[in-house]
Amino acid sequence: MASVPSLAASVHQRVANALTAALPEAGSADPLLRRSDRADFQANGMLALAKQLKGNPRELAAKVVERLPVAPSSADPDSVIADIEVSGPGFLNITVADSAITATLAARAADDRLGIPFAADAGTTVIDYAQPNVAKEMHVGHLRSAVIGDAVVKILEFTGEKVIRRHHIGDWGTQFGMLIQYLIEHPHELDHKDAASGEEAMSNLNRLYKAARALFDSDAEFKERSRRRVVDLQAGDEQTIALWRKFVDESKIYFYSVFDKLDIEVHDPDVVGESGYNDMLAETCRLLEESGVAVRSEGALCVFFDDVKGPDGNPVPLIVQKSDGGFGYAATDLSAIRDRVQNLQADTLLYVVDARQSLHFKMVFETARRIGWLNEKVHAVQLAFGTVLGKDGKPFKTREGETVRLEDLLDEATERAAAVVREKSEKLGLTEAEIQERGGQVGIGAVKYADLSTSASRDYKFDLDQMVSLNGDTSVYLQYAYARIQSILRRAGEAQSPAPHPELPLAPAERALGLHVDQFAETLAEVSASYEPHKLAAYLYQLASHFTTFYDQCPVLKAEDGPAQVENRLFLCDLTARTLRQGMSLLGIRTPERL
Ligand code: ARG
Repeated sequence: MASVPSLAASVHQRVANALTAALPEAGSADPLLRRSDRADFQANGMLALAKQLKGNPRELAAKVVERLPVAPSSADPDSVIADIEVSGPGFLNITVADSAITATLAARAADDRLGIPFAADAGTTVIDYAQPNVAKEMHVGHLRSAVIGDAVVKILEFTGEKVIRRHHIGDWGTQFGMLIQYLIEHPHELDHKDAASGEEAMSNLNRLYKAARALFDSDAEFKERSRRRVVDLQAGDEQTIALWRKFVDESKIYFYSVFDKLDIEVHDPDVVGESGYNDMLAETCRLLEESGVAVRSEGALCVFFDDVKGPDGNPVPLIVQKSDGGFGYAATDLSAIRDRVQNLQADTLLYVVDARQSLHFKMVFETARRIGWLNEKVHAVQLAFGTVLGKDGKPFKTREGETVRLEDLLDEATERAAAVVREKSEKLGLTEAEIQERGGQVGIGAVKYADLSTSASRDYKFDLDQMVSLNGDTSVYLQYAYARIQSILRRAGEAQSPAPHPELPLAPAERALGLHVDQFAETLAEVSASYEPHKLAAYLYQLASHFTTFYDQCPVLKAEDGPAQVENRLFLCDLTARTLRQGMSLLGIRTPERL
């Protein structure tokens, strides 16, 4: 495992050195290097620097150029910069040597991690994601949390971060009083058999939930019995707890079946729901009250904020304990913070939760800061995501106005994708089983990619037609690019990885593709620091687009300059495919070898 400096980093280093040599008084000034269409890179740092030192930017740029060794690409194997010129008011336009591109890519290809270093400042992150609610159907909001969370987990782990997953499922609260009481009075309801499938588990629960709710709303005595049952539950009464566990277990069968369809791994020990913090709640409240962070107000334990006011202008507090002594969502989240910081030793807490809960988290985090559970060394971030909209731009609902069942959506995506695969399958001679398998990989990939390719904070439209399209910014397009490369490599019949030839000049489309492949490491560093998987998706889409252009312009197996060029192009294809596969897998998307 060897980390490979990117071309951008090498050029940056050289220009920075030249800048310091040309202008010692500038100290270690940043040349502000970026990719550019004019040349490969452009450095703009001379402008601000000249202004600051009251000099002429073009003159300064010329001095920097004097100190940069430039060699024609093939003459000096170590030269990175092939051409450099001063342009405009004092930019530097820099072209890197073809040999440097191929040599850098060769170093990446030689490494399992494509030359990507581990983060220097890796720590421990606890991430709270994929947290559906017991005895309730999962909806598209739970889809988002699971898909975004899973991608962030994979990306962070790849950088070397220790990641602890927490699925904060809704498995506690007053609604269980009603459910358990109903079950006690109608013992046959869940008793008959264990659910055979997730779907069956959910339909059992749904039926029970509806029946219990109806009774609760119509029968005052049942309502009272349900209330007393909540007290039993909280007191840990054995029979009550046993029934509660039945609900949780039945729901888990359902959750796991959905996560399985989504191709997302959820491990039982990581499912620590609201109930898991039950023993901490009283102490959390005591600590908050004793420290003065929370105060009693009309019997409730509250935390107040200057900037959180209701429509009437009165402050809206975070209620940690209700006046009847009950604990709510906030007490649980504050206890979870204590657990994650003090027991799990996290330095970062991430919450992949709907933006509609942002005020809750803002108040919870601020409370934890006031009491010192969060501080300069431990911080918390909500990765707030937007709403999934229907084609009409309104929150996604069925025609009857009900929330869309997640399973139905996933099944439909898979069916549509299977149809797309089937159309192309004749050429490949795929069997029906293969079509179905790829249908799943393509369909689920399409759903995930649609979610991950727009900034999480934004709403997006759930449009299956668009998602499984072969053209445009879809996972199918990326998967086809990958499969096409595999087909080229198979036709080439190379047993081992094709060898690079740094001595060969590169065509413009080869350079563009190569430079983009080389940017993967920097993209990942940015994506993992900002928790923005959509930037990885954008990178991969551009990668596939660069490959398409390359494939149009540069014959691979029939390259005009002979066997070395064939090999060099195969090498570029292979590294592109490895980069695509690595990037897609960090997004949780499969890359079938044949499509
Ligand atoms: N179960 C909640 C819901 O479905 C999400 C839980 C979010 N995590 C948390 N620590 N509050 O909306």
